[in-house]
Amino acid sequence: MPALAIGENIFYVGVQHPDREMFDCLMPTPHGTSYNSYLVRGSEKTALIDTVDPEFIDEFLRKLKSLDVQKIDYIVHLHTEQDHSGCISEILKYYPDAALVATSNVVKLMKTHNHIPSEKFTVVEDNGVLDLGDRTLTFHKIPFAHWPDNTMAFDSKSRILFSSDLFGSHYASDRVFATDSHEIKEATRAYYAEIMMPFAPQVRKYTEKVIALSPRMIASSHGPVWNDPQLVLKRYLKWTGEKVSKTVVIPYVSMHGSSVVIMERLTWRLASKGISVLCRNLGADQESLVIQTGHVAGDLVTAAAVVFAIPTVLGGPHPAGAYCAIVVNALRPKTRFIGLVGSYGWGTKISEVFDSMTNGLKKAQRLEPLLFEGLPTEEDLVKVDEYADALTEKILALGDDLI
Ligand code: FEO
Repeated sequence: MPALAIGENIFYVGVQHPDREMFDCLMPTPHGTSYNSYLVRGSEKTALIDTVDPEFIDEFLRKLKSLDVQKIDYIVHLHTEQDHSGCISEILKYYPDAALVATSNVVKLMKTHNHIPSEKFTVVEDNGVLDLGDRTLTFHKIPFAHWPDNTMAFDSKSRILFSSDLFGSHYASDRVFATDSHEIKEATRAYYAEIMMPFAPQVRKYTEKVIALSPRMIASSHGPVWNDPQLVLKRYLKWTGEKVSKTVVIPYVSMHGSSVVIMERLTWRLASKGISVLCRNLGADQESLVIQTGHVAGDLVTAAAVVFAIPTVLGGPHPAGAYCAIVVNALRPKTRFIGLVGSYGWGTKISEVFDSMTNGLKKAQRLEPLLFEGLPTEEDLVKVDEYADALTEKILALGDDLI
């Protein structure tokens, strides 16, 4: 993608990384990602907002050259994470006169993460303003969306909001603006699940703040630019709200077919009562474990319940189920109920271990575990029906809290 104008004298100069498959060695990125940077030209001064992943510095410099950028007055860092700031020392070799501008939170982390001395920065704080001549950038701190340092910048002239990681998506594209496509929606939801969901209460406040700012456009640091901000704002209101969907997510593993019998019976019974069920097989192979766990995270953005169907291995949960449980615990979804079902060979401590791995889900009601020795009998499966019926009742009792 070449450098593109997204507004009068505002240019997208980020880079696309379509073949990136994983982010943070944790989240699958099936659509790749992008590292977004924006050049804002005022009548007096020019500012560069964020930079790109160091791997793409040559392409980044070529883009700036294509716009004939001879001088950058300010390099604004909205966030320290290295995919946006890791190449700053190199950039300064080409633009040695550029002043670095950031909040104190960014400055602190730039010292530890990129070894940039604090004296190099001009510090701006919440509601601080950077004057570019015929336009100003106003800064709004958004701590823990998703690091302590995330900051937004609002351009007075274009009313474009540069939102840092907030409202981003891991989605590479040769088109600069987001559409209402299913793919972009899914990528935005996965990104929300894995980056923003642990901080949902703060993110809700920031979403409301952005709605009050009424930006004409939202330019995040990952994924396409939101030419229609409502597309992403209405989703964030839904995802950060209290309401949940009539959905049960069942991450499952089965070594010899017993736990899968339980999962299938549970699915059938819940579905027959009008509950949506999403089953995610964690046990197919290592690659699918990561991919399926990513799906579980996305499912749990709105699902009312999660029930792990996993067998016991050496007294505790099967490691594939444990991996998914640890990720879910870290992401803090708003799910109202958490359950554990499964089979074991001859003895088990799975409940104690599972509870300790998921004790961060403090708002979720813990369902009584349902564990069977060996292959479930028809009598055991009746107990699965009863478990499904009780869970259905609890979900339906949420009433107005259901989407
Ligand atoms: Fe894309 Fe938090 O950095």
